[in-house]
Amino acid sequence: MGIYFDEAAQVFVLRTANTEYQMRVNGFGMLEHLYYGARLDSVLQPVRFFGRDIRMHKDPLDRGNEKNFALDAYPQEYAGSGVGDYRVSGVETVAPDGSLSVDLVYQGYQILDGRQALPGLPFVRPDSETKTLEITMQDPVIGLCVKLSYILFAQEDVIVRNAQLVNQGQGKLILKKAASLCLDFFGSHFDLIHFHGRHCAERNMERLPLGHQLYTVASERGMSSHHHNPFVMLCDHSADEYQGRCYGAALVYSGGHRIQVEVDQCNNTRIVMGLASKGFSWELAPGASFQTPDAVLSFSGKGLNGLSQNFHQLIRGHIIPPQFRDVRRPILINNWEATYFDFNTEKILQIAQEASDLGIEMLVLDDGWFGKRNDDRAGLGDWFVNEEKLPGGLRVLSEEIHKKGLKFGLWLEPEMVNGVSELYEAHPDWALQDPGRETTLSRAQMVLDLSRQEVQDYLFGCFQKILEDAQIDYVKWDFNRSLANVYSAKLPEERQGEAAHRFMLGTYALLERLTTAYPDLLIEGCASGGGRYDMGMLYYCPQIWLSDNTDAILRIGIQRGSSYCYPVSTMGAHVSASPNHQSGRSTPIETRGIVAMSGTFGFELDPGKLSEREKNEIRQQIRDFRKYYWLIQKGTYFRLGEAWHEGYFSAWMFVSEDRSEALLNMVVERMQGNAIVPAVRLQGLDPGASYRVEVPIRRGGWYGNPDNPGTVEIQTESYSGAQLMEYGFVFPAVQGDYPAYQLHFVKEPDGGI
Ligand code: DGJ
Repeated sequence: MGIYFDEAAQVFVLRTANTEYQMRVNGFGMLEHLYYGARLDSVLQPVRFFGRDIRMHKDPLDRGNEKNFALDAYPQEYAGSGVGDYRVSGVETVAPDGSLSVDLVYQGYQILDGRQALPGLPFVRPDSETKTLEITMQDPVIGLCVKLSYILFAQEDVIVRNAQLVNQGQGKLILKKAASLCLDFFGSHFDLIHFHGRHCAERNMERLPLGHQLYTVASERGMSSHHHNPFVMLCDHSADEYQGRCYGAALVYSGGHRIQVEVDQCNNTRIVMGLASKGFSWELAPGASFQTPDAVLSFSGKGLNGLSQNFHQLIRGHIIPPQFRDVRRPILINNWEATYFDFNTEKILQIAQEASDLGIEMLVLDDGWFGKRNDDRAGLGDWFVNEEKLPGGLRVLSEEIHKKGLKFGLWLEPEMVNGVSELYEAHPDWALQDPGRETTLSRAQMVLDLSRQEVQDYLFGCFQKILEDAQIDYVKWDFNRSLANVYSAKLPEERQGEAAHRFMLGTYALLERLTTAYPDLLIEGCASGGGRYDMGMLYYCPQIWLSDNTDAILRIGIQRGSSYCYPVSTMGAHVSASPNHQSGRSTPIETRGIVAMSGTFGFELDPGKLSEREKNEIRQQIRDFRKYYWLIQKGTYFRLGEAWHEGYFSAWMFVSEDRSEALLNMVVERMQGNAIVPAVRLQGLDPGASYRVEVPIRRGGWYGNPDNPGTVEIQTESYSGAQLMEYGFVFPAVQGDYPAYQLHFVKEPDGGI
């Protein structure tokens, strides 16, 4: 494992536990992509493809006098533009003389221990084994220097890439595009998998066999968005959850993004990933530089599950703030769906008391505690408490809540302002707005121009006051609209193309300042649910509210879609009231608990409205969640299932690192007539060991029916790991509305059979 340069072959090799990446400096000084995939353990031998003439001599594809060279089909590491490669480019500029071409040639390299932090941006955190290959490229005609970084996380099978672009010329360069990643694959035998959605319906998986065209997965909304997550996979057509070659690429960025995948005339595939493009431009004065965000790449030969596990390991170990890696996070109750804006101290304390009696550990006060915020039309920006609702303010309330043995969390939406607010009255120019045009509102709010230092200072000052005054253990950082009218009153007219990225850098600067000043403050990200569920936010927020949709059955799909890249330890998940507020569907409390436990686990309901039976069930769920906490949060996660399960039930499991225990979850999503007994093949167990499991067998009654629950008898069963994985586990017969099982498999003490 490591990074090597083979002088004779002029080939760079990056080798991780199971993968390998190679590139070569060719005779023209170009950086040629050779290979990415499973380990080869030797330098790729020259193959016919690379010197091939694609017989289009009238096109400007030659290099020097070399006619047997086709730039338009050549695999490159960071493609320029305008000089004969007509595929999507990695970088586009306007030179001082107005010329548009970029042609990068190799200059040199260095191999470094560790990695460089990215100024102003979240990044993949290094450890003592991290190594970086830094390659310098240059276009001497326009004076552009590009430093490509390849950062190796060998155990996780991850290679992180980014680019720094420096103007080494005498005049002003304008960047029109600066990708984090540009990568050419040999062949086009791939399916493209991406995750689209909308509010309350995030991260639906779509799988498309690649054809000869340019695919774009993008968000131009100034946020990573509910609509297109900044994560894609390319896999063999035949790859499934457990086998086949799969590549994943994710951007560590929370603003707009663009991922392009193109199959070219020679059936090869290029992927380019970076910031959103619409209107983007960035002025680089002589000597100035621009840093792209990190792009995370991984390969697995073990199917989509294997690839997900690489990303999960990376996010848990290298993205989320290290102080939260090994700390158990509190089981919370959030008042949003219990009260919406209609609360006062008495109501909140009543919820807190009930919650404390159930064993819940933290109360989160959601939207509506500040300014004149009695509905969603006013108050954002006025971050001082509404004493009419909460006499004595947050100090008194937080003290009272702590006295009940609960931690206290608070909702904020820092980047927004309502027109009806003291802040907007005092500083209308602090909002992003076009001159002379009516501003497009969303939820009656505008977006603050976070690129301005004075806006960051105002917000930091407000939050510092709150955090110093009251006992606040947690903040929910919300963001409830996309950007529009992205015009900053602080930037000159010719630099407005920088405003969207500068907004994002401003948000990161504020988050950085806050997390530096209050490192133990747990921040949960949120953007109308999962509109900013990305590695950029996860760098500051170890958990993110996954969706505003709390319907357990619909949530299974959102959690599953999200799990392709993100570990369950990052997924904010709550048990909410039944019937559900988004869908109107009723589901048993048991099923809601099982689904929410595959996340950070919490509640979003009024406990005063629960029956004694439901309260007892919640007490049991809390005991179970505490018992299985590390198995769920750090165990290896497997999506289970085969084609015939689809639409009938979903199953997933967690296996501890030493394979001594596993937690199997199954929820019936659509009951059948004369229902087939659900069965699943388990994954990740020790085939030679035997596992004991206690299975609740129901007699009489109906699952989840409080009026007729029947009786439940626990039956202890024992199976070999081999049987559970090859034959499968057969559940007891199911009936009722949305029945679910959560079963704990424990390796028998003798370990084997
Ligand atoms: C959107 C969030 O996703 C909800 O949970 C809630 O906090 C509301 N905003 C409050 O306005």
